[in-house]
Amino acid sequence: MKSYLVCFSAGCRARYPIGQVIYQCPQCGGLLEAAYEWNRTNVAAWKGLWRERRMSNSPLEQSGVWRYREAFPFLKDTSKVVTLREGNTPVLDAPLAAEYAGLDAVAFKHQGYNPTGSFKDNGMTCGVTQAVNLGKKRVACVSTGNTSASMAAYASKAGLKPIIFLPHGKISFGKLSQALEYGAITLQVEANFDQILALVRRVAQEADIYLLNSINPFRIEGQKTMAIEVLDQLEWQAPDWIVMPGGNLGNCAAFGKGFLEMAELGLIKRVPRIAVVQAAGSAPFYEFMKAPVEGAFVPVNEPDTLATAIRIGDPVSWPKAWSILNATNGVVERVSEQEIADAKAIIGRSGIGCEPASAASLAGIRKLVTAGVIRKDANVVGLLTGNVLKDPEYIYRYHTGQLKTESGEEIHSTFGNQPRVVENSAEAIVRMLKEL
Ligand code: F0G
Repeated sequence: MKSYLVCFSAGCRARYPIGQVIYQCPQCGGLLEAAYEWNRTNVAAWKGLWRERRMSNSPLEQSGVWRYREAFPFLKDTSKVVTLREGNTPVLDAPLAAEYAGLDAVAFKHQGYNPTGSFKDNGMTCGVTQAVNLGKKRVACVSTGNTSASMAAYASKAGLKPIIFLPHGKISFGKLSQALEYGAITLQVEANFDQILALVRRVAQEADIYLLNSINPFRIEGQKTMAIEVLDQLEWQAPDWIVMPGGNLGNCAAFGKGFLEMAELGLIKRVPRIAVVQAAGSAPFYEFMKAPVEGAFVPVNEPDTLATAIRIGDPVSWPKAWSILNATNGVVERVSEQEIADAKAIIGRSGIGCEPASAASLAGIRKLVTAGVIRKDANVVGLLTGNVLKDPEYIYRYHTGQLKTESGEEIHSTFGNQPRVVENSAEAIVRMLKEL
């Protein structure tokens, strides 16, 4: 079985050894991806094998990523795999959310059930394992919060030193706290995500740090198992749509790669259509896809959204996401701050909950149903990318009518749920409960 890195750019497609430490094509600067010369002889047995492994107590089989390792066979020796038993996230039906979106039914694949509370763990287990495999001692990432929380945990688990770069003041407290608790060297830079990523890509080599942003192809390999796991959970019946929030667009690239490879290997007959949803204040991909031509991508210089996870104006993986939308007959939508906030409250009231960026999925589904793009009876899976506790401040402000954007736009607490203060008296409590 042969694995290699290949330049994603259609005009280049240069190949490099799988163990070469590069983050972009040395020849043309294009994005890289891992590719394989598949050994197809056993593919028919994979579904059964993957299902069977769920019964095992071995760490490798308990991981909802490594269980699917035949789909990303870049590692010869799995004895050094760094796992926190990531993946294994549920697909939850949500009738209230379906009604809100105008659908007969909707299900959420909830990546917030991961060890550090976001989908980043699926990719990070692979990225950090490859860092160990390459003998690296220090790993780094730029992050809007979740990547850094995840990298900090996996690096520390592996005994590596995590170094993280964050946009100062622009990440939620929950995520910053995780980085500190997991022992990362934490640098808060006075710049936005895009500016810091450009900076760190420049210094990575000199500072001898292994970069674990989603430009790292091994991150994408782990992340694509989300697509495989959801298919496994749906008995290999692909949904009509999978809808996800979009920031740096690595996730769209990962899901697309997963679905397309499963189709190429004959494990599914058709691929789901992918819908990417961006926050209106950080929607360069939405703008680009209105008239997509080479060279026409315009970054948003000052991206803005209270969904800080997707506050990204210059997404590095847009060429991959473009190709995936073409290959899956996908679409991109954008949603307002109010739409995100209200959708989030509905997901909360469904007993499910998620962080702000994740709620862009439901807000986007609702808009696409209204526009007639998604049919009412379609089989739709929304991706929830992060846990409800990632950003409690946002929640408190929304429910108490204090949520405001940076530019001063007030978010109406449409589905607000105010806490009540009550005096220390049984009668007063009874009186209050009777009135409610
Ligand atoms: N949802 C959440 C909760 C995220 O943290 C991110 C990205 C996305 C959606 C968007 O995914 O970038 O692959 O399109 N967070 C990154 C980070 C950028 O640094 O944690 P994407």
